[in-house]
Amino acid sequence: MTSLDGKVAIITGGARGQGRAHALTLAAAGARIVVCDVAAPIKNVQYALATPGDLEETIQLVKEAGGEIAGMQADVRSSADMKAVADLAVSQFGRIDILLANAGIHDHCESTIEIEDDAWQTMLDVNLTGAWKACKAVVPVMIEGGRGGSIVITSSVDGLGASPSWGHYGAAKHGLQGLKDTLAFELADHNIRVNTVNPTGVNSPMAEGLSKVLPHVVRKWKHNDRTNLLDVMMLEPQDISDAVLWLVSDGAKYVTGIDLPIDAGYLTKH
Ligand SMILES: NC(=O)c1ccc[n+]([C@@H]2O[C@H](COP(=O)([O-])OP(=O)(O)OC[C@H]3O[C@@H](n4cnc5c(N)ncnc54)[C@H](O)[C@@H]3O)[C@@H](O)[C@H]2O)c1
Repeated sequence: MTSLDGKVAIITGGARGQGRAHALTLAAAGARIVVCDVAAPIKNVQYALATPGDLEETIQLVKEAGGEIAGMQADVRSSADMKAVADLAVSQFGRIDILLANAGIHDHCESTIEIEDDAWQTMLDVNLTGAWKACKAVVPVMIEGGRGGSIVITSSVDGLGASPSWGHYGAAKHGLQGLKDTLAFELADHNIRVNTVNPTGVNSPMAEGLSKVLPHVVRKWKHNDRTNLLDVMMLEPQDISDAVLWLVSDGAKYVTGIDLPIDAGYLTKH
């Protein structure tokens, strides 16, 4: 049984979906959790993002399961917000050992060169720069703690392969691979490990929201056979949480700088 007793984990985008599953999974392993989420609409995002009620539900679910958790609304696009989240972790629990840079948005385009400037920028601001800002706020606290740490950045199969229909999403996720490699290199001397998880399609409110506002995209996927090698259309958030739990545990204490596809063979097939 993996133990994270005594550890403190920050999770961005934790109001629902994979972030909520990560909160419940790490809390069950003994970690104290600090969860944050924008919990508000963002311009250029066509499906509904989380609400303050979703954020509160994650907090209540962790508490009901016997876990310790604090949470706040925070936007990964804001360095001040990310600093406030790191400060909350230190004031509530005294340390930070784990960062899950999970917050993200999705979008669709017929052609990458036709993406509006504003939509491109929003994607990069949230999915790439947001992860960097979360790291920027948390890493000094980890270094100061002197106990090492583990950062898991949620990328995607689209961070490792081609992503027709969402070039801005793919560009941001590929950027996360470079961010991960660089941070793994720079932080190794502090025993801070940095890795990405690279999921295939996950059955989360993001996927559900996209399929409602852009049903033709889902049809196109199926038509193009953009499916997995194993016989599963969508993974569940818990499938990603299980991999994250391993990556942040002592079982992975010598694992840094890797991409971990949880992709049912998607990348092998494509
Ligand atoms: N669902 C999929 O098919 C899939 C596949 C591969 C990777 N991913 C990635 O997994 C991560 C989690 O996504 P999910 O599937 O749980 O989707 P989700 O939409 O259910 O959860 C993402 C959360 O991030 C929050 N968020 C968005 N912008 C934010 C911001 N600026 N600041 C703070 N929080 C913000 C949202 O409110 C939401 O609660 C994302 O990075 C996503 O790109 C998803």
